[in-house]
Amino acid sequence: MITKSLQDAINEQINKELYSSYLYLSMAAYFEDKNLPGFANWMRKQADEERGHGMKFYDHMVERGGRVMLKALDAPKTDWKSSLEAFEEVAEHEAKVTASINALYELALKEKDYPVQVMLQWFITEQVEEEKNAAEILANLKLIEDRGTAVLMLDHRLGKRTGE
Ligand code: FEO
Repeated sequence: MITKSLQDAINEQINKELYSSYLYLSMAAYFEDKNLPGFANWMRKQADEERGHGMKFYDHMVERGGRVMLKALDAPKTDWKSSLEAFEEVAEHEAKVTASINALYELALKEKDYPVQVMLQWFITEQVEEEKNAAEILANLKLIEDRGTAVLMLDHRLGKRTGE
């Protein structure tokens, strides 16, 4: 049986993952409004992925006899100054999620909860990927600045992202 403190921390993490989904969906709407469907596609897929992360925690809790308790989601921002600013926020947000996953892992070690540790190993690997993807797109955006053709080429590439 999962301990009360881990249960509370996992419920908190479910909220963070679902908030991430909400934030990226808001970014998708921003890019849709800017007529950049490829960027919007990337954000939609990211939002779907974050919901999947929330559900991984949800399912683990159910399997372990814990109680999932959903909390209110904060309203995400709706506007960014530029694509660059939006991706800077993605990178910062993912760094915060990584710190939160690491703190959860520390707690699972302290509580000697081995199944949670095993589940979190997937998330630790996933966060490396998440941070790398955000950093790569951010670096591309810094390189191309506001050059229209290059922005459209990147939009085309991001439009190819499929659901994982
Ligand atoms: Fe679920 Fe992007 O971290």
